[in-house]
Amino acid sequence: MNTPEVYETGSAEETIAAAERFAASLKAGDTVLYTGEMGAGKTHFTKGIARHFGITEGVASPTFAIVNEYTGGTLDVFHFDLFRISTFDDLYATGFFDYLDRGGIICVEWSENVPTLAENLENVWRVDIAKTGENSRRITIGK
Ligand SMILES: Nc1ncnc2c1ncn2[C@@H]1O[C@H](COP(=O)(O)OP(=O)(O)O)[C@@H](O)[C@H]1O
Ligand SMILES: [Mg+2]
Repeated sequence: MNTPEVYETGSAEETIAAAERFAASLKAGDTVLYTGEMGAGKTHFTKGIARHFGITEGVASPTFAIVNEYTGGTLDVFHFDLFRISTFDDLYATGFFDYLDRGGIICVEWSENVPTLAENLENVWRVDIAKTGENSRRITIGK
């Protein structure tokens, strides 16, 4: 990993704003792999990415759907949640790998559930979000 960038945010809105700035570095086909506990802010970070691409549709955790597709912006954002996935084969069965060729941005909550995921992808960004207080978060971004 290159030297990671670290951001400290003090509110959900600041996390959205940090993600919106970060998203300027994203290219079609990039994958954003999140790590971080429940309530860390992975979905809020995805809201910021969607906002950068002009997506006005509401962004919500796709825990029950596995993937939410936001297609109304300048690039599509495919928002996965692997909370209920525990093996590479399970992930394969969701059609995850078909999304890589669709020219969008793929955001993946609970990527830690499939530890071999990153080595099977190109153009991976790792975004770890740690709770440092009720409203404070440390966001570490590496490529
Ligand atoms: N600095 C912050 N950044 C992100 N979320 C924050 C922050 N401070 C408080 N929160 C709250 O934490 C929760 C994060 O929720 P969410 O983005 O759904 O997390 P996750 O997807 O990681 O489970 C929200 O209720 C949000 O309002
Ligand atoms: Mg979430």
